[in-house]
Amino acid sequence: MSIIDHFTHVHYPPTKWPRFEFEEDKCTHCKSCYLACPTSCIQWDEKKKIPYATGLVEMEIACLGCNNCEAVCPVGCIRLRGEYRVLKGRYKTLEERSGDMYPPCPFGKKDLSRSFEETEKELTETERIILRRRSIRLFRDTPVPKELIHRIIEAARYAPSAGNNIPWKFVVVTDKELNKRLERESSKILYMIKWLYAGRGLMRKIVISLVSYLRVNDMDQRPIAALQKVKQLNGSIIWNAPVVIYILADHRAIGDPNLDTGLAAENLILAAHSLGLGTCLIGLIPNALKYLPHLRKKLGIIYPYKCITSVCVGYPRGKLDNPVWRGKVPVDWIE
Ligand SMILES: Cc1cc2nc3c(=O)[nH]c(=O)nc-3n(C[C@H](O)[C@H](O)[C@H](O)COP(=O)(O)O)c2cc1C
Repeated sequence: MSIIDHFTHVHYPPTKWPRFEFEEDKCTHCKSCYLACPTSCIQWDEKKKIPYATGLVEMEIACLGCNNCEAVCPVGCIRLRGEYRVLKGRYKTLEERSGDMYPPCPFGKKDLSRSFEETEKELTETERIILRRRSIRLFRDTPVPKELIHRIIEAARYAPSAGNNIPWKFVVVTDKELNKRLERESSKILYMIKWLYAGRGLMRKIVISLVSYLRVNDMDQRPIAALQKVKQLNGSIIWNAPVVIYILADHRAIGDPNLDTGLAAENLILAAHSLGLGTCLIGLIPNALKYLPHLRKKLGIIYPYKCITSVCVGYPRGKLDNPVWRGKVPVDWIE
């Protein structure tokens, strides 16, 4: 990639979007696909009571290709096919990653000719949970018993960490008022970022490219589409989940405490799904917390801790953990 390519096309890069496929005659008009879509990609046509796909300014469809719309549809009338592929610039999708999405194939090509239900008979319980788990964005109001929260944090405590530093701290928030305040104040910060990105004009293009250069990996169209969804849901970031667990890392840990935190988060998430709970990682609030010192203090995020991520937890509204198609990940074998 040339140096010019590296710093251009950060603002609305030319993109090949997944294809939205919808069978109207099957649709039960339950709205789940619209409610569970993490971005503004799926909209709801109030007149016809059906979903349609769209984008932000200059986006064809604001789709991450996560396929949660398909996972939550009770009758299988919705699909996203093709791939999310950035064609130019800093975030250009590598050739070796290009290609259509495909379903879980733990046993290779033979899985393409049979249903996942057939394949999963040969899987372990752990594999089944990993391949079925989805980010849950439709929650019931039911509170989660404290014992279950304790259990999933215990799974996190047993994640591997460099030098067995165990560099984590967990902050569990079930206080509805505090969760609302965190959403309210975070969304104000996040909307400013969205305002800067979402629009036309050379000036914005230059500013975004500059910010992207100064804060590598911070300026991409996908979180912007997620912020558009937050706006449409009146500032809701945690999807009405009853519990949010903030995962903090001790700055002073050896190695890479961020990596350790990711491992702990995944343990927590998988344990939660094995117990019938749903989870969704929430990066938007921890990102905004960088600019909200009074809320950091309220959550006890003080030196030596920093907040790396958060996970919202609750009982899913329906059976939402389902396998979906995913993009290609290159694997090199050196034998
Ligand atoms: C670091 C990180 C931050 C994330 N932040 C958010 C978030 O703020 N809001 C959200 O709805 N989903 C968030 N997600 C969930 C991703 O959108 C989701 O994992 C991805 O689309 C794949 O879908 P799946 O988890 O259902 O397989 C985050 C995921 C990760 C790993």
